[in-house]
Amino acid sequence: MTDFVESPEHDLLRELARALDRVDVERARREYRDQNECLFLERFLPPEVVERHLLPEVDKLRPNVHRNYIPGHKKGGAISYYTLSEKAPLFLALYKSPAFIDFVSRLTGARVRPCPDADPHACALYFYTEPGDHMGFHYDNSYYKGDRYTILLGLVQRTEHCRLVARLYRDDPTRETREVQLAYGPGALVIFNGPKLYHAVTPLAEGEERIVLTMEYVTNPEMGVLNRFLSNMKDAFAYFGVRALIRRKPRSEKEAPS
Ligand SMILES: [Fe+2]
Repeated sequence: MTDFVESPEHDLLRELARALDRVDVERARREYRDQNECLFLERFLPPEVVERHLLPEVDKLRPNVHRNYIPGHKKGGAISYYTLSEKAPLFLALYKSPAFIDFVSRLTGARVRPCPDADPHACALYFYTEPGDHMGFHYDNSYYKGDRYTILLGLVQRTEHCRLVARLYRDDPTRETREVQLAYGPGALVIFNGPKLYHAVTPLAEGEERIVLTMEYVTNPEMGVLNRFLSNMKDAFAYFGVRALIRRKPRSEKEAPS
């Protein structure tokens, strides 16, 4: 008899399959639609699964966090898709899991797919680790030709102050805006249509920490030249640094004629 040793990836994907089985998709779809294409699943992955599989990867990545600061808008740290694919591909196994992509498609009613490998924001980590780390109100606008959906998975929520604040229905003239504050702990999931949800992250206090995995899915992965430039500038200055963008550009893109 051959001994079978499961890889961390298999183990995580098995936990993901169990988590997906537990979701009442019809109910989740209704709630998603009723909340103007936004859904909060407080218990998606069990916290112990996050602690066992994902937090050791997070700790490995801490020396690679790129700090960013835009006065009046945001302050925090981030790890790009490129760094994840090089140093912690377990996150990408989750991001690219066909079962997870199918779930997001069923929930949103849109046939979504992961962003191209050239997008540093496709799947990334946000680190709120220093006092005052925050993010001002914004929409997750799509630079792609298709729609963009944002999925946030809570990893660490050791904070009483740093929360996701969302203003539901802000773009719906027939409904009153409703503000909700979400403290999503390890394993909680937030799913929304990026350009439809006005949201922010409130400032972190001394001694606290909040870490989140962000995953971006699109319906059409094509991007115009101007939008590619704008998207790269945003990612370079607001998230991952200029060096990361230049250094990690895929070979095919570097060699393409300009
Ligand atoms: Fe956002």
